[in-house]
Amino acid sequence: MARLGVNIDHVATIREARRGIEPDPIAAAILCELAGADGIVCHLREDRRHIKDRDLSLLRQVVKTHLNLEMAATDEMVKKAINVLPDMVTLVPERRQEITTEGGLDLSFNFDYLEEAISRLRSNAIVVSLFIDPDIHQIKNAAKLEADYVELHTGAYANADELNQIVEELEKLKSMAAAAAKMGLGVSAGHGLNYQNVVDVAKIPQVEELNIGHSIVSRAVLVGMDRAIREMVELIRNAR
Ligand code: PXP
Repeated sequence: MARLGVNIDHVATIREARRGIEPDPIAAAILCELAGADGIVCHLREDRRHIKDRDLSLLRQVVKTHLNLEMAATDEMVKKAINVLPDMVTLVPERRQEITTEGGLDLSFNFDYLEEAISRLRSNAIVVSLFIDPDIHQIKNAAKLEADYVELHTGAYANADELNQIVEELEKLKSMAAAAAKMGLGVSAGHGLNYQNVVDVAKIPQVEELNIGHSIVSRAVLVGMDRAIREMVELIRNAR
């Protein structure tokens, strides 16, 4: 069975809509763990648009399962990771204008720089994962870079809407998961996975971990709505 890493970024997105203190992603992380999540994932972006430095350091203190920090491979972020010591770092590409991480890392670009960043992280006992498209060249480069894991970008699969395209993207994920495992890499997968499309990816035997954020936070808002409304109605009703 694959492990579930819950990405809590969008709990912080809701907080940042008011630049206030709630909902607190730290409380969300604790609830995720109590409900059975195997790990917590957060992305500290350069622009700090959702998760803040304060969140990361508190998460390090409270997360009891497995803390996976997504970040760009910049010098500032590598230093931060070595300071905070998450269990895992997932290196992702980052562009300021993007709404979310749009594609995987191109490992042939800045290979030497990435090699140094990975080795600095690994020598601090941080497990390193590289977020890449399901592409054999990227997987070969990830092995050369001595990453511990690759996280296969499932966005193309999740965004496909025609059946033949969905099947094609799923086959790509299956064969690339097998290829990565054969090269000695751990395999995880994520991006755009939801309650409709997750099962076929969870069936892939080499996929050890699924990292899921937006669909879980979206569902939490809706399944929690009934109780939230009842509690507010009750307060108003009993006010006079
Ligand atoms: N994995 C990585 C590397 C990501 O960047 C993201 C998005 O932050 C996810 C998984 C989760 O994607 P989603 O929010 O679409 O489930």
